Amino acid sequence: MKTRIHKLLKDKPIGQNVLVTGWVRTRRDTGGFSFLDINDGSCLANLQIIADDKLKNYNTEVKQLSTGCSVRIEGELKESPAKGQDVELHATMVEVVGTADPETYPLQKKRHSFEFLRELSHLRPRTNALGAVARVRSRLGFSVHQFFQERGFIQVHTPIITTSDCEGAGEMFQVTTGQSGNVAEHFFGKPAGLTVSGQLQAEVYALALGDVYTFGPTFRAENSNTSRHLAEFWMIEPEMAFCDLAGNIQLAEEMLKYLLTDIMTHCEEDMALFDKFIEKGLLKKLAGVVEQDFARISYTEAIDRLLSSGKKFDFPVQWGIDMQSEHERYLSEEVFKRPLVVTDYPSGIKPFYMRLNDDGKTVAAMDVLLPGIGEIIGGSQREERFDALKSRMVEAGIEVEQYSWYLDLRRYGSVPHSGFGLGFERLVQFVTGMTNIREVIPFPRTPGSAPC
Ligand code: 4AD
Ligand code: MG
Repeated sequence: MKTRIHKLLKDKPIGQNVLVTGWVRTRRDTGGFSFLDINDGSCLANLQIIADDKLKNYNTEVKQLSTGCSVRIEGELKESPAKGQDVELHATMVEVVGTADPETYPLQKKRHSFEFLRELSHLRPRTNALGAVARVRSRLGFSVHQFFQERGFIQVHTPIITTSDCEGAGEMFQVTTGQSGNVAEHFFGKPAGLTVSGQLQAEVYALALGDVYTFGPTFRAENSNTSRHLAEFWMIEPEMAFCDLAGNIQLAEEMLKYLLTDIMTHCEEDMALFDKFIEKGLLKKLAGVVEQDFARISYTEAIDRLLSSGKKFDFPVQWGIDMQSEHERYLSEEVFKRPLVVTDYPSGIKPFYMRLNDDGKTVAAMDVLLPGIGEIIGGSQREERFDALKSRMVEAGIEVEQYSWYLDLRRYGSVPHSGFGLGFERLVQFVTGMTNIREVIPFPRTPGSAPC
């Protein structure tokens, strides 16, 4: 059975015979033998192979190996005299599984730009940086489940096809049937779309099971070609019954700190790569987030801060505006220099389900803003009062009959409840230091682009 390189480098079974598989990164020949660097994706590090001319296919095959070829190699693990590695594998068998024509293989030894690699979403995970992103993303996903499961939250699989528009921003992809292009009206009896958020369905389960979460893909047909927007992205959405806005904010802060601590402990090698090549000081930044309390400010205070800053923004500041990324970043990067929770936004710029505050103008909303990223979490306490919810729905022009199931949750055993949505890719961006969100999802979907 093959051994993953990650495990070999950890356990170092010196003197044992092992089988490894992977792809050739480099080959270097010296008199009578060759050094091969093999990567199998299990970790950033390559395994060095010593292959000599006693191998029967040394001249015919081993000496032809080029970057990208796939191989199975058996041999004895020995201590390495060379600097920069503890062990090396002395090959007794090198099987070439698949060749890769060096004339056409696009991933050459030199460093490629991320823009170039984006055109090669089928090959880019073979590079150091994108491989590291994939491993960090996987660990973060695991850690999200661990965080909630440790706290007794129950995972709910909310639907991908839905007939409810949670955010009401007209950003739903419509679902049609077959070639006809008919909206799914004929199939489901009413128009359906791809979900923009699993929140409304998560609320159903929260009002039965207490603390729940959903973690799945979401879709938004917004025409935003920015470094922080995708048309398909993953969201983590906890929903808690008997929980107010303060409890919601506390969970968000605990969760972010938990995830950052976990990734620094379990992905040291990959994180060191990002710290060195992608964002200098990244690890210090993450440690700083874990150590400090998040700052808190109300929307109204935030607007006052922006107005009195004397700074000229492209988008003019005034109470009631939807804060733009330049405003959010000014507050978190220049004023507070740490994660910032903004609460109590004007009701006019937030969806119908948020709980109306006593002032009658603002809602119990909270956004978490991170330096360098801007908004990473959006959440709220939900409107649990039947009449208040109904009148906000009517105000928002929502067909109340369509959402009678949602109103039922307020009709029968309603409770104060809260939740939020954490954009998974924005989290991976923050953790890896990648400047563009297209690098932190395997197959990015953006306006005009969906290869593979
Ligand atoms: O603030 P949003 O729109 O909140 C909701 O959808 C709520 N229903 C969540 C809830 O309360 N359960 O989105 C939540 C987060 C944002 O803060 C952002 O991190 C991310 O989702 N996000 C996107 N990420 C990538 N590309 C996009 N187009 C995104 N839109 C939102
Ligand atoms: Mg938001």
